[in-house]
Amino acid sequence: MSVLVSGFSKLSKTEKIDWLIKNHLSDQKNAKDILTQYWNSDQKLQQLHDEFIENTVSNYYLPLGVAPNFVINDKIYTIPMTIEESSVVAAASKAAKFWQTRGGFKTKVIATNKIGQVHFTYPGAFSDLEDFFKNVKSKLILDAKPITKNMEKRGGGILDIQLKNKTKALDNYYQLHATFETLDAMGANFINSCLEQFAKTFKAEAEAMLPMPVTVIMSILSNYVPECLVRAEVSCNVEDLAEKDIDPNTFAETFVQAVKIAEIEPYRAVTHNKGIMNGIDAVVLATGNDFRAVEAGIHAYAAKDGQYSSLTHAKIENGIFTFWMEIPLALGTVGGLTSLHPLVKLALQILDQPNSKQLMQIVAVAGLAQNFAALRSLTTTGIQEGHMKMHLMNILNQFNATENEKTQIIEHFKTNIVTHSAVVEAIENIRQ
Ligand code: MEV
Repeated sequence: MSVLVSGFSKLSKTEKIDWLIKNHLSDQKNAKDILTQYWNSDQKLQQLHDEFIENTVSNYYLPLGVAPNFVINDKIYTIPMTIEESSVVAAASKAAKFWQTRGGFKTKVIATNKIGQVHFTYPGAFSDLEDFFKNVKSKLILDAKPITKNMEKRGGGILDIQLKNKTKALDNYYQLHATFETLDAMGANFINSCLEQFAKTFKAEAEAMLPMPVTVIMSILSNYVPECLVRAEVSCNVEDLAEKDIDPNTFAETFVQAVKIAEIEPYRAVTHNKGIMNGIDAVVLATGNDFRAVEAGIHAYAAKDGQYSSLTHAKIENGIFTFWMEIPLALGTVGGLTSLHPLVKLALQILDQPNSKQLMQIVAVAGLAQNFAALRSLTTTGIQEGHMKMHLMNILNQFNATENEKTQIIEHFKTNIVTHSAVVEAIENIRQ
């Protein structure tokens, strides 16, 4: 049973672990060893990780893999991916290789505007508020200068502030709806600092100039960034889709049909897009970006027309197969973890130090490639064949298979179908 505790964050790391063991892990005799075996022997590196969050007790490892052979706008990339799901990196690599000989991926950044809002209420007349806003707008921008001046020197900053009347949906509710260009920074801190300054100025000026009080509810960026948009595409002659025993025309038509199903059927769309996010999240994580923000924004975009739908689209026109995706992505290549986490720095180096626009394109390609690989399997062999082959090692590790057992079993499953029970049976047979 859980117990309440006060002052937990003030305890030392060892005291926190002792508390955990006493209250939650008393039955687990090697709990301390499990937690401490993931500590880094380099004290400075460990301290860096300890200080990312509060109450750190250990490090949680995820594999960092790489998917080579991505050709994006005629440049070759090896893409770093952080993910636990066995088949994702293999699928990305396979899709990269497939498209490498068929013209590669083509990408384009459509826009890079980010959004933040000051949410407030005003019980008086809208016309008063409108006049007041017209007068105060330049002061809002001026008072934020100490925050924006460096960003402006580099070519970014506040693009616009609008007053939005939301009283039809919620009594007395208005917004200062601001757009920003944050260049290579993801921009959350920059935007939030600007918004809090807008709110301060707005409220102070309103007190002197408006007959009724303005109440600021909150000031926060939006993770919905439909104006920070990137497009990724692959295309080739239908005949060029041929591979081994796959008939290119049937493949192209079935593939397009599979995408159309995801376009109109939300149950399928969610799984379809989940597969896309396998690729996107893995690169977003490896490059130290905020995958929750990316997830939230992309799923909202998938529902922008009122029904949750596929992020990707496909067509066959005049014998040419085209498969593409447009997604919103707010990413940073400076600031945050990108300048702190040694593996993130390395991941960005592997990508040849992209700026945020280049990273948007790489991440979109990882998503499109992942969807291509998933649909290719789903519409031909089925997903389980490849998936279970990759999952085989996890099952073997679950049963503490020795190297010798692993070699024998992997050989056996080169020609047999992998299922959990078949693997267990194979282990038992060897061990008898
Ligand atoms: C599994 O992680 C992802 C898939 O389910 C995606 C899809 O169905 O398109 C294979």
